[in-house]
Amino acid sequence: MNELIKAINELKKEKNAIILGHYYQKGEIQDIADYVGDSLALAQWAAKTEADIIVMCGVHFMGETAKVLCPGKKVLVPDMAAGCSLADSCPADKFAQFVKEHPGHTVISYVNTTAAVKAVTDVVVTSTNAKQIVESFPKDEKIIFGPDRNLGNYINSVTNRNMLLWDGACHVHEQFSVEKIVELKAQHPEALVLAHPECKSTVLKLADVVGSTAALLKYAVNHPENTYIVATESGILHEMQKKCPQTTFIPAPPNDSTCGCNECSFMRLNTLEKLYECLKNEAPEITVDPEVAEKAVKPIQRMLEISA
Ligand code: 13P
Repeated sequence: MNELIKAINELKKEKNAIILGHYYQKGEIQDIADYVGDSLALAQWAAKTEADIIVMCGVHFMGETAKVLCPGKKVLVPDMAAGCSLADSCPADKFAQFVKEHPGHTVISYVNTTAAVKAVTDVVVTSTNAKQIVESFPKDEKIIFGPDRNLGNYINSVTNRNMLLWDGACHVHEQFSVEKIVELKAQHPEALVLAHPECKSTVLKLADVVGSTAALLKYAVNHPENTYIVATESGILHEMQKKCPQTTFIPAPPNDSTCGCNECSFMRLNTLEKLYECLKNEAPEITVDPEVAEKAVKPIQRMLEISA
């Protein structure tokens, strides 16, 4: 293991590469990454890096976002099969048709989308800045929001809007069980529930704090004296536990506890071995059709400007 870590670090230096990792990655990947963050931070780091190669340890759409922002750089992902159920729930042709059927709407898309969906979008959001960006539009603005219906419903409720929602969802966040969280709360009455806004509204109703991975982590770091039940992909517990070693974090259970589905199987495809191979071979490499990239970069840059 140590040899592998050493070899990855050597290759990274030799090739002037940077490793970006999402909080849902395996702990060993988070530990070797130059930066670990939420989707917004990953895009921000990609946009400003001077490295020649970006290795995106996350899922495919995160690599695409980095490539669209840095067309001149090589963007690698350790495993090309690391997709996203939420992005898959919004095929670009169907979304473009939906947009066409609702003229006069501003199109806001969650970052968990393909570059082709972003290409028909006015502004991209992440869960960190969705509320801020939606509120940057007048109250009576007609808005299409896609693809996550749970995040869309949540933003509608906190901004008092009625955005038209695409009917997509993340298979991990959809799985959290209200009954099991209620049971856990009975066993740990002192525990606070931290939930990602991709969870269903019935789960969000039980939450003490709703936020992006970065926001949930920040809350825990600022209040380490509490016990937490965490309703998001359980990879985040690695960084939470690292930053708050004395705190008890309990992963919220999914409906079917035998399926391990509070773990994103796509995120977990990336391993240290694949990271090493990918740096060595400079593959698999993310490519984006230049015409699509030219359109997709605008709503991403707009998001980065608003969030700066
Ligand atoms: P964050 O932006 O909160 O990190 O969420 C990313 C994600 O993919 C959630 O499913």
